[in-house]
Parts: sequence; structure tokens; C-alpha cells
Amino acid sequence: MTSEAATMPENIKERLKASYDAVASKYNEWTLPHSKQRMDYLGKALEYLKIPAEPEKNAAFLELGCGCGLPVTKKLLETYPSARIIANDLSTTQISIARQNLITGPEDEVARRLELIPGDMSALRFPNGSLDLVVAFYSVIHLPRTEQTALLERITKWLKPGGYFVANFSAEETEGAVMDKWLDDKDWMFWSGWGQEKTLETMKKAGLKVLIAKVETDVVDDSSFLWTIAKR
Ligand SMILES: C[S@@+](CC[C@H](N)C(=O)[O-])C[C@H]1O[C@@H](n2cnc3c(N)ncnc32)[C@H](O)[C@@H]1O
Repeated sequence: MTSEAATMPENIKERLKASYDAVASKYNEWTLPHSKQRMDYLGKALEYLKIPAEPEKNAAFLELGCGCGLPVTKKLLETYPSARIIANDLSTTQISIARQNLITGPEDEVARRLELIPGDMSALRFPNGSLDLVVAFYSVIHLPRTEQTALLERITKWLKPGGYFVANFSAEETEGAVMDKWLDDKDWMFWSGWGQEKTLETMKKAGLKVLIAKVETDVVDDSSFLWTIAKR
């Protein structure tokens, strides 16, 4: 059962890493058959972006909380065969699975243009104006919401002018919701969010122009998320 934490839990990142390391395979089996909603939003963002597949050698894409690299990072690699693709996840197990899913062997050209970065997305830094698209599905929701605000400010700066951000957020306002067991006995979970209105305000304050903002019931269970596409 999900409950509002009375005080902010300690060691959130360490505990989430341990949880996702433990349930990576189970999570992937559970979620991958239900990828349509994510892929629809990614597709809409790519339509806005309108970068030609080739020869756009300077295009750069980032997925935050990429999980096992499927389906989003793989789709980006396939759609933009010359672009630099960066994928980050807190779980080193998920990063290892992503490597297996995305790179077929030492000669695979993907290895030259794919950067898999393990660790906390809040610790990432990129040059200003260096990214065409940032994607974050079901991942920013795991950051304490004050960190979400700071991350949105950084993402805006990382984007090239005219670049896009596509992500989903908690539709409900919660400082910290926790669950002792989520998919498995070993996965303590933590989620946080500003809720629909304040998330949109925060995006606007960060300098993003919100193009799509829609609360949708999730396909896997009956939780609701705010799905957004925004432009710098
Ligand atoms: C619910 S899964 C979503 C995975 C994938 N984006 C998807 O749509 O299936 C959340 C992912 O975010 C990662 N994550 C959680 N907190 C993170 C953080 N602070 N930095 C980077 N990744 C994080 C988890 O390890 C996990 O792989």
C-alpha cells in the first residue's frame, strides 16, 4: 500500500538503487508489454522535433531513467543512425541490461555513439544548448520534488533553443509517497511530485513552453500521470 511519508525518508537514492537492482528483470517483464503510451508520447515529440534522420551528425538525445534501454533509447538509436544518444539510470543492473539490449557486439557501431551513464540524474551535467531532446518516463517521479524543480531548470539549459522535453510526472501533489513492497518483497519505493498545476508552473518558470499537458490513467494499473511535451 502507498502511504504519505510522515518525514522525508533517508537514503532515498541508495534504497531506490537497491530496489531497482533487485527487481530489474521483474519490472521489465511487467512494463514492456505496455509500452504504447510511452511510445505515443515519444512519437509526438519526434514529430515536433522534425530532425532529419541523416545526415544530422550533431543531434544529441538524452533519456533519464532509461531502465533496460527498451523501448525508448533503442527507438532513438534506430531513428537517428548518426546521432549521439545518452541514456542514464540509477540502477547499475538496468544499465547492464540496457548494454546487452542495445549493443550487439564489439563491432556494433552503436557502441561509438551510445553513452550509458549509471548514477543519479540529479548529478548529471551537460553543456548548455547541447541536446535536441530529453526524455524521462516514470523516472523524474522518483526524485524528491525540490530536486525535480532544480532538474527542470538544468534540462531547460541543456536543450538547444527549439529543443524538446517529453516526460511524465505524478498527477497528484505529494511530497513523498512510499511503499514498503512494490512489485516484490525487495523493492521499497518512493515517489514525489508537485501535482498537475504546480508541475506545469515549474516547467514554465524554468523557461519551457508547454505544448501538451494531459493527465492520463496508466495502462498498467489505475494510477494517473501528467504527460507533458515542452519546448525550449
Ligand atoms: C519506473 S522505472 C522507468 C524505466 C523506463 N523509463 C520505463 O519507462 O520503463 C524508473 C527508472 O528510473 C530509475 N531511477 C530512479 N531514480 C533515479 C535517479 N535519481 N536517477 C536516475 N535514474 C533513476 C530507476 O532505476 C528505474 O530504472
